[in-house]
Amino acid sequence: MNDSMRYAFVLGRVYTLSVAELAAVLERPDTSLGLAGGPVKILEASEEILIIETEKPLNAERLQKKLGGVIKILEVVDVVKKREQDSLNFSLKHFFKPSVLKKQFFKDYKGKSQFGVSVYILDGDLLKRPQPQQPRQGQKPMGDFGNIFSEPKRLGMMIKNALTETGLSCRLVLPEFNSLSLASVVVTKNLLLQKGAEICILAAKDKVFVSKTLTVQDFEDYGRRDYQRPARDEKQGMIPPKVAQIMINLSGCKSGETILDPFCGIGTLVQEGLLLGFRMIGSDINKIAIKGSEQNLEWFRNRYKIAPGKYGVEVSDACKVSDLIEKSKSEISGIVTEGTLGPIYSQYPRPEEIVKNFKDLTALYTKSFKEFSKFLPKQAKIIMCLPAYKQGRYDYQMFPGLDFAAELGYNLVDIIFPTLAKNLKFLKLTSRNTAIYDRKDQIVAREIVVFEKN
Ligand SMILES: C[S@@+](CC[C@H](N)C(=O)[O-])C[C@H]1O[C@@H](n2cnc3c(N)ncnc32)[C@H](O)[C@@H]1O
Repeated sequence: MNDSMRYAFVLGRVYTLSVAELAAVLERPDTSLGLAGGPVKILEASEEILIIETEKPLNAERLQKKLGGVIKILEVVDVVKKREQDSLNFSLKHFFKPSVLKKQFFKDYKGKSQFGVSVYILDGDLLKRPQPQQPRQGQKPMGDFGNIFSEPKRLGMMIKNALTETGLSCRLVLPEFNSLSLASVVVTKNLLLQKGAEICILAAKDKVFVSKTLTVQDFEDYGRRDYQRPARDEKQGMIPPKVAQIMINLSGCKSGETILDPFCGIGTLVQEGLLLGFRMIGSDINKIAIKGSEQNLEWFRNRYKIAPGKYGVEVSDACKVSDLIEKSKSEISGIVTEGTLGPIYSQYPRPEEIVKNFKDLTALYTKSFKEFSKFLPKQAKIIMCLPAYKQGRYDYQMFPGLDFAAELGYNLVDIIFPTLAKNLKFLKLTSRNTAIYDRKDQIVAREIVVFEKN
């Protein structure tokens, strides 16, 4: 008997980074998360969602807290075959029987329930609206095409009617106009997971994965970790906590090991590393930044009940940071850092300015990497952000040649294994197999780069 389980991960906006993080986390053994380690079987994936099969149940709640790039974790309840031309509604019209609904989605709930319906697309062609074809004489009518954006409502009404038949009273929550899925904030605010369910329909061309949401990202907590901290530094910029988590997860460090952020600013990576169970050392050349880090980490430590002695932050030039490491008697297992990105711009800089910035940063990182060699063990990773100047929608002027690192004994590592990247054609990797994190109106984006010490 095959008793494997299927889970789906709703990916964040920068889905290439979400996939890189998932691959790194899911392939590492971790019994507390239900992970045996080794290659993960991916059943389907798109820009929106990635479906896997596992032998054992996952601890979705813990995984959700660990993953910065995953918006929701779903459990696949069943797979229903679909003809290419059929609508989702048509394909599922015999699936949502009252008994199935009660058993799979509303088992524990009595009283007035609330449920939501979301649709996620596994095949982009489903978003193109095919025209219904007139059936020929004597031919059975084909499935109902309709507009894909009307599917959540039609599915929702179908489910609501089935539930009402059983005497269950319920309220239906639907995605906003022209959207197919509910935002995690809507799922949380409407208490869908407590008072009923979010039913997610993952639509491929020839099949539908019927799933239920197990967990959603705690958007309020991410907001607190970002905006409620006593100190902020709008001038230098701060890395969003979710991206910090992704970068730490890419480091391959094991829980309890020590990670260094030698350009720590006001300590975002330090705090996120602590939350993920690492010991953290942060340093920065700027005294005010370190003061901010101290204040933030004191606040953070109290709020998130971090045991004392798990971190230290100090003023240091990254090019001399080995003194600090020696003094702290720590063994550093990896470096995760948002090195300085150079000046922040409100207007696109002139080409010669960009050339100068890259030259200055090459000098700084050459010195810093030389310094890191003094204490980093072989195979340790450096995960860092490099500036990438946005030139078009997916076009960036990236940091030229990373020869400085190669000359100092660091290999550039593909952010996603080439075999996996080859299968997931939708990923947006740069020509050197790194990934870019950017925001709509930013001129300087972050290129996330992984190095490994030889
Ligand atoms: C983009 S900020 C890092 C922000 C940080 N990730 C956060 O979220 O708070 C870059 C930091 O690099 C620091 N920096 C610049 N040159 C440095 C050097 N030579 N050694 C150490 N820190 C340096 C700056 O003071 C600044 O705080």
